[in-house]
Amino acid sequence: MKNTVLTLLKQKQSGDRITMLTAYDYTTARIFDECGVNSILVGDSLGMTMLGYDDTLAVTMEDMIHHTRAVARGANNAFVVADMPFMSYQVSTEDAVRNAGRLIKEGGANAVKLEGGAEVCGQISAIVNASIPVVAHLGLTPQSVNVFGGFKVQGKSLDNARKLIEDAVKIQQAGACAVTLEGIPAKLAEIITKKLVIPTIGIGAGSGCDGQVLVYQDMLGLTVGHTPKFVKKFADVGEVMRQGVSDYITAVKDGSFPSEEHTYAIDEDVISAIAK
Ligand code: KIV
Ligand code: NA
Repeated sequence: MKNTVLTLLKQKQSGDRITMLTAYDYTTARIFDECGVNSILVGDSLGMTMLGYDDTLAVTMEDMIHHTRAVARGANNAFVVADMPFMSYQVSTEDAVRNAGRLIKEGGANAVKLEGGAEVCGQISAIVNASIPVVAHLGLTPQSVNVFGGFKVQGKSLDNARKLIEDAVKIQQAGACAVTLEGIPAKLAEIITKKLVIPTIGIGAGSGCDGQVLVYQDMLGLTVGHTPKFVKKFADVGEVMRQGVSDYITAVKDGSFPSEEHTYAIDEDVISAIAK
């Protein structure tokens, strides 16, 4: 059965932790959906994981729609959330509503996600008024990397922690259906989670959140180079891929692939007739 905003809300109420993973294509979305993940996030992290950029800032609406469409086809049950890319909602509420609408209509998402607190409440309520569920995103919001001066844990100082709690309350009042809490101390995330009616989905925010999300390349061992402290590697798919590809190269080079079983046969009389 398709998960909805109500499924996630009921999970919070009953203490059934929400599971979310990123996905950016049909094949991966299908596997995660079959595993029973509650929600799939088409994150603008695809700028890094799919497109090889250093951050999310260059990701376009076209990129997001393209990948969301592929994921939506593979997600029979999972609630599909699509990120609004940098500069698709900051300039005006009109932009925000139009671009959120595109992720739903053209991308097939079930909800959109955008970064920020008080400063984006106008956008959140306008998008919700257009009948589109909005997931908010607070804490280490990667689209603000240049303001933070790097990917740094947020909410450690008293002022910053207070501001995050206020922002969380405000985005809920604006109509957000859930909020991602990224890169903040676990105890702060727990306080925010208890204060809110809507579910919190944490990444680098401890176990006190109503759910967890990870970038799948990080948790499956596909990320090249550094992964943050909060990542746990649940499998080494990268190693499996390297082994499989190496074996393929060896088998082609030594002629052991393709063998008889992977080859189409033809009647001998046809062959001898051709040879004449
Ligand atoms: O883009 C993304 O993958 C995200 C998650 C890290 C929450 O926003
Ligand atoms: Na994101």
